[in-house]
Amino acid sequence: MGPKPCRLAPSILSADFTRLGAQIAECEAAGADWIHVDVMDGHFVPNLTMGPFIVEACRRSTRLPLDVHLMVERPEGLLEAFARAGASILTVHIETCLQPGETLRCIRALGCRAGLTLNPSTPVEAVAPFLSFVDLALVMTVQPGYSSQAFMPEMLPKIAGLRALLDEQAPGADLEVDGGLSRATLPGVREAGANVFVAASSVFKHPAGIGAGLAALKEACAG
Ligand code: DX5
Ligand code: ZN
Repeated sequence: MGPKPCRLAPSILSADFTRLGAQIAECEAAGADWIHVDVMDGHFVPNLTMGPFIVEACRRSTRLPLDVHLMVERPEGLLEAFARAGASILTVHIETCLQPGETLRCIRALGCRAGLTLNPSTPVEAVAPFLSFVDLALVMTVQPGYSSQAFMPEMLPKIAGLRALLDEQAPGADLEVDGGLSRATLPGVREAGANVFVAASSVFKHPAGIGAGLAALKEACAG
């Protein structure tokens, strides 16, 4: 399969929650492809963020796919609630799954695309046996938990390695990268083989606004 289209997935973790609907509309108007929702449980990661209730509010704010990143222990018990709330993609961490193949199968059975991700310290070998069950693989380029952290360039070989494995086992799958992406760091990630780019601070905290933040990332996608 040839190169996949670049997709930008702004993460609402850095949005102004007093104006969430308007901020999502601004992303959509500026050409966002997906809306990324960071779900954190205060256990798997130290931070505590949002649940199905917010996903449902996002669903009413946009027609864009909702890309839900589950940074939670025992994700199995939450999948149905997020699917009902309107998630389009449900991504689970390999570190949290007792039976990853079964969890991914369950996500697809709920009508969502199935995503699998891994922490910076987890090797690609941990996800390799399950790639034939995924629609999306996600490489974390920061320690999950917070936005505005520095991009970890040492993850670039992992991105390339995972794309090579996906090409063998799930050639249609997207390869997403999350953490520290900006106009400066995105091109290297794209060259390594990723095609979906998550960004919180470089979109929502851009000094010239959401539209300018997305425009800068679009430029980076183009080369
Ligand atoms: C990190 C989250 C990311 C985060 C990215 O735990 O999974 O989606 O919001 O934030 P930035 O783009 O600011 O690094
Ligand atoms: Zn995320």
